Amino acid sequence: MEAVDDRLPQIALLGAGYDTRAFRFKTGATKIYELDLAKTQLRKRRLMEHAGIEVPENLKFTSIDFTRDPLKEKLEEIGFDCDRPALFIWEGVTPYLPPEAIESSLKSIASCAAPGSRLVFDYMHTDVLEGRARGFGAREMMKRLSHSDSPVTFHFSLEPEAAEPFIERHGFRVLKHFGEAELNEVLRLASVTMGDRVSVWMNILLAEVPETKTTD
Ligand SMILES: C[S@@+](CC[C@H](N)C(=O)[O-])C[C@H]1O[C@@H](n2cnc3c(N)ncnc32)[C@H](O)[C@@H]1O
Repeated sequence: MEAVDDRLPQIALLGAGYDTRAFRFKTGATKIYELDLAKTQLRKRRLMEHAGIEVPENLKFTSIDFTRDPLKEKLEEIGFDCDRPALFIWEGVTPYLPPEAIESSLKSIASCAAPGSRLVFDYMHTDVLEGRARGFGAREMMKRLSHSDSPVTFHFSLEPEAAEPFIERHGFRVLKHFGEAELNEVLRLASVTMGDRVSVWMNILLAEVPETKTTD
C-alpha cells in the first residue's frame, strides 16, 4: 500500500500466483503488471471470472517462465515503462527457482528499474533447506519437504548474512531486512492475529534503486 500512497506509477507482481491485491486495492492511476507461469495465470483468471470478479483497467497480465524468458522484454510487451519508477514484488517464488534463474531475473529487474524503484524480495533460510532449522514452523516445513510424494521441490536459499550483499550486487540498496523477530514485531504492531507467529523459513528484504545506480 505504501507504493500506492507514495504514488509509485507501476507495480510488477512477479510470480503473482493467487495474490488478489491488484483486485482489492484501490490503486487508482498506479498500473499493475502480473507475471506468472501460463498455467497458474490461466487458472487464476478463470477462477476470478467464475466468481464474477472483473479485471480492473489498470491491471495487465503476461505469462513468464523465470527459468527461460527475458523478464524485461516480457514487462515491456505489456506496457511497463522501464524509465519510470516501480515497485517489484517477488514474494514466495525464489525457493522454486534454480540459482541461475534468480541471477538472470535479478539482472533483468535491475536493467528495468529506474532510480527510485523498490524491490520486495523474500528468500528461504538455508538452515531450513538443509534441515538444520529448529525455529517455529521450520520442523513442519522440513517434514513436508522430505515427504516422498511432496509436489514441491525447493532449490534456492540464502544465509541471512549473505542476503544483503546478494541483492546489493545488482545495484539495489537494502532498506529493511526482516527475519522472524522483525516479522513478528510488524505483525504485533499491526495487531494482526494469525493464530500466533510467523514461521522462520522465509526472510524478506526491501531494497531500492538509488538515484545513481551501481550495478556490476
Ligand atoms: C507460493 S506461490 C507465491 C505467489 C504469490 N507471489 C504470493 O506471495 O502469494 C509461487 C508462485 O511462483 C510461481 N512460479 C514458480 N516457478 C515459476 C517459474 N519458473 N516462472 C514463473 N513463475 C513461477 C508459481 O506459479 C506460483 O504462482
